[in-house]
Amino acid sequence: MGDRVAIITGGANGIGRACARRLSEDGFRVIIADINAQAGEALAEELGGDKDRARYVQCDVSDRLSVNNLMAETRSAFDRVDVLVNNAGIVAKGDILDLEEADFDRVMGVNLKGFFLVAREVSRQMVDQIEETGERTDDARRRYAIINMSSVNAVMAIPDQLAYCATKGAINQMTKSMALSLAKYGIRVNAIGPGSINTDVLKSVNDNPEALARIMSRTPMGRIGDPDEIAAIASFLASRDSSYMTGTTLYADGGRMAMNYTV
Ligand code: NAI
Repeated sequence: MGDRVAIITGGANGIGRACARRLSEDGFRVIIADINAQAGEALAEELGGDKDRARYVQCDVSDRLSVNNLMAETRSAFDRVDVLVNNAGIVAKGDILDLEEADFDRVMGVNLKGFFLVAREVSRQMVDQIEETGERTDDARRRYAIINMSSVNAVMAIPDQLAYCATKGAINQMTKSMALSLAKYGIRVNAIGPGSINTDVLKSVNDNPEALARIMSRTPMGRIGDPDEIAAIASFLASRDSSYMTGTTLYADGGRMAMNYTV
C-alpha cells in the first residue's frame, strides 16, 4: 500500500495539516490542496517534497477550474489518487435575521459546492483507475476512501452560524448519497464530525475565558480536542481496518452529543 496517494483539501493548517502529517506517516504520498501557499509549501517541504513524498497544489475548492487543475497536477505528480480528505472549510457569523447574502454564498461555495466539486473530480478519477485495472471490488474497498470533514454542527445548531450549520448538515447527506453511488466500485465514503478542536477557528474562543467556559459546559471530557485526534480517525477511515464501513459519520466531540444538560 506504500504507493497510495491522498489529497487533503485545506491541508495547510489545522485539522487538514494534522491529517496530511498522519497519512504521510502511514505511508501515503500526499497532495496538500489549499489557498495558503506559504503554509502549504512549508508543510510539503516538511513531509518530504524533495523526495516526492508530498506536494503542495494551490487550489480554491470553490472554483471548478482550480479543482480541475488540482486533479491535473495530482495525475502529473503521482498518476493516481486513492484517498480524499475533503476538509477545507470556513465560517461566517450571522443568524437568520442578519446573515449577509454574500457571506451565505461564500460559506456555501467552500463548504458545500467545494466539497462537491472536489469529490466529483476525485470520484471520476478513482472509477477510471478501478475500471482500467479491473480491480476486484473487495480489493478496491481496502484501497479507496473518501472522508468528508463534517461537524457536530451537522446535527446540533448554533444560531449565529446558520450557513455553517446548514452546510455541515448537507455534508452528512452528501456522504450517504455518495456512498450509495460508489459502493459498487469499492469506493468507501464516510464523514468525521469533530466537536471543538484546537485550530485557528477556535482562536477567538481560546482568548476569551467566558466563551471557553461556555464550550466546556457543553464538553463532558472537559477539554478542547487536538487536531491529531481527528487525524487518527481519518487514518482509520482511510485504512483497510474500516473496509466494511461506508455512508456513516464518526463523531469525536468529547461527549458533547451524548448530553442534553449543562455540566
Ligand atoms: P483552519 O481554518 O485551521 O484550516 C482551514 C484550511 O482550509 C486553511 O489552511 C485554509 O487556508 C483552507 N481553506 C480555506 N478556504 C479554502 C478554499 N476555498 N480552498 C482551499 N482551501 C481553503 O480550520 P480547521 O479548524 O482545521 O477546519 C477544517 C475542517 O474541520 C473544516 O471543514 C471545519 O468545518 C471542520 N471542523 C472544525 C472544527 C474545529 O473546532 N476546528 C470542528 C468541527 C469541524
